[in-house]
Amino acid sequence: MKQLNDTYGRVHNYLRVSLTDACNLHCVYCAPAEQRKNFLRANVLTDEELITLITFFVRELRIEKIRLTGGEPFARKNIMKLMAQLADLKQQTGFHLGITTNGTLLAPHLKELKTFGVDSLNISLDSLERENFRTITKQDSLQKVLDAVFEAQRLGFPLIKINMVVMRGVNDHELLNFAQFALTHHLNVRFIEFMPFTDNDWSNNKFISYKEMITVLQSRYSLIPLHGDKNAVSKDFMIEGTNGTVSFISSMSEHFCDGCSRLRLTADGKMKICLFSLPQHDLDLKKLLRSHSSPQQFEEAIRAALKLKWKQHPEPEILAEMKNHSMLAIGG
Ligand code: 5AD
Repeated sequence: MKQLNDTYGRVHNYLRVSLTDACNLHCVYCAPAEQRKNFLRANVLTDEELITLITFFVRELRIEKIRLTGGEPFARKNIMKLMAQLADLKQQTGFHLGITTNGTLLAPHLKELKTFGVDSLNISLDSLERENFRTITKQDSLQKVLDAVFEAQRLGFPLIKINMVVMRGVNDHELLNFAQFALTHHLNVRFIEFMPFTDNDWSNNKFISYKEMITVLQSRYSLIPLHGDKNAVSKDFMIEGTNGTVSFISSMSEHFCDGCSRLRLTADGKMKICLFSLPQHDLDLKKLLRSHSSPQQFEEAIRAALKLKWKQHPEPEILAEMKNHSMLAIGG
């Protein structure tokens, strides 16, 4: 069993799995309502297919970390049945299991997720103001998300991260409030640079770089750099004298492609070699699965697809012009 290497020597041991492209929110930076076109049900991988693929990646291709994304993962029907099967597989093979969620449907599932051994929860939260939350997401659910965050903390989930996509004129006035939130509640808040995807209305005017964000935060807080692992996507800082941490994901202004270890699986069974890769570079694993390909054919196809991975993704202005998938289909 050999690692999954690309042509630049990067080892791929992390698979992000989108469980559905459905989402109950309609966030401005992701996929506003009027433009949505979801996958046909028949094209979405079944539980059995997902388990088969994930088992293969973990057992045969040395994937060590799985993160479930969407759309919104908890918008998938019977997700807890799938989670139970994943928990079994995790027990047998020992991969790291994370979920990225908008948090609105999370609270009722937390106890069970804890018993399933979920290691990390990344919760999207783009505003701490009720009205602004509603403007950004089109749903009045700020309190539900906060309740889920605090309940997850109470239950002792080992890793909880808050994801905020920072956009000028939308929520940038809340940067300091989010840092205060991190230190008050002993949380990690990650400030994410706004990235362009198909139909998400990205513009340079709304973009705020990591440098600009950190300048704002340093006007009030003293930030001490923390040194994470080499594949970390975030620049992490402790807010001095507190248990709060803030991180920055500078995908656009200072890319971290050199340390990329990620592969992605869309809900309709396409493997993507980069968050921004073109549809023609996707590998249709569902097709291979439904035509009963052998394990060897799978492995060869996956390794061949990975050979096409670029050294780094293009600059934001170029990405904004490209026709790639929407974030709903990829899941971040
Ligand atoms: N730019 C930056 N981050 C985004 N996310 C979704 N769309 C974008 C975008 N256009 C974030 C989500 C989620 C994470 C997986 O990616 O808010 O927290």
